Amino acid sequence: MQTLTQVLKASTTPSALQDVLMTTTNTCIDICNALHKGSLAGILGVAGNENVQGEEQKKLDIISNDMLKTALLACPEVRAVASEEEDDIVPANTAGEYLIAFDPLDGSSNIDINAMVGTIFSIYHDTGSDAATEQSFLKPGTEQVAAGYVLYGPSCMLVLTTGQGVQMFTLDPEKNEFIQTQSKVEVPADTQEFAINMSNQRFWSAAMQTYVNDLVAGATGTREKDFNMRWVAAMVGDVHRILCRGGIFIYPWDSKSPNRAGKLRLMYEANPMAMLIEQSGGKAHTHSQRILDIQPEGIHQRVAVILGAANEVDKCLSY
Ligand code: F6P
Ligand code: MN
Repeated sequence: MQTLTQVLKASTTPSALQDVLMTTTNTCIDICNALHKGSLAGILGVAGNENVQGEEQKKLDIISNDMLKTALLACPEVRAVASEEEDDIVPANTAGEYLIAFDPLDGSSNIDINAMVGTIFSIYHDTGSDAATEQSFLKPGTEQVAAGYVLYGPSCMLVLTTGQGVQMFTLDPEKNEFIQTQSKVEVPADTQEFAINMSNQRFWSAAMQTYVNDLVAGATGTREKDFNMRWVAAMVGDVHRILCRGGIFIYPWDSKSPNRAGKLRLMYEANPMAMLIEQSGGKAHTHSQRILDIQPEGIHQRVAVILGAANEVDKCLSY
């Protein structure tokens, strides 16, 4: 079995990008170790601040953000970072050639119940003689050169794409190294499993309500088959399930979110997950367009997300 280092070395991934990926994933191993200590390290619970989205920050959100920021700013290949937990982008080495946007701890409300969380990242190539700005990050997701997440679950897993399919790696905690455990991830085109937060139903568009009603009607409705439902409440967990056994994940726009956008963030949630899903044969859309084609307007922009099994995403969009 090959280590992440060996897989990257044997690939066409530029060595500078390999350095960025190794810095990111090694820091995630450190985050994983911090999570494992849990309350013993005194790092659970609320830190008493709000992030730029007006959400309560957990101590571990801040710790993970600081760990990634410190490591990436020290990596000479990194030109700038953007994070869910930073209001503005943070310029690093102007001569560096990579921009990295990340959600340091996705699903952080799961921490207090010892459930799944993860780190999501999206990497772009960018050069210039001046320091990077927010504008440097505002490229459509089609231009990502790598994307992935590290899932802190019963085992710690890295799921990665550099644009040539999706690979899964499992952390060997004795060697502190990611070992490749799946070389080609494929999302089946059809599914009988969906993920959506049903408690928001009355705030969705009429079309989304009809679509989900038809899923719930199962074999007695127009779909003529039963559907199962799952909701991890951490996008990283729901997307991981889809990459493992298929399904559709939806966080639609709703009438209670600002500007009727969705909840999820384009740059460090929707885009990297859309790249992973498309690289596995699935689809990722908003209500009206392919996620990867969106021209971003801000690093913290929110979008609606409908992703997973290709035929089921098409079916949803047909409503
Ligand atoms: O980061 C936002 C997020 O935590 C996602 O990981 C997750 O899919 C979603 O929010 C959960 O939302 P809700 O609280 O509506 O279940
Ligand atoms: Mn998140």
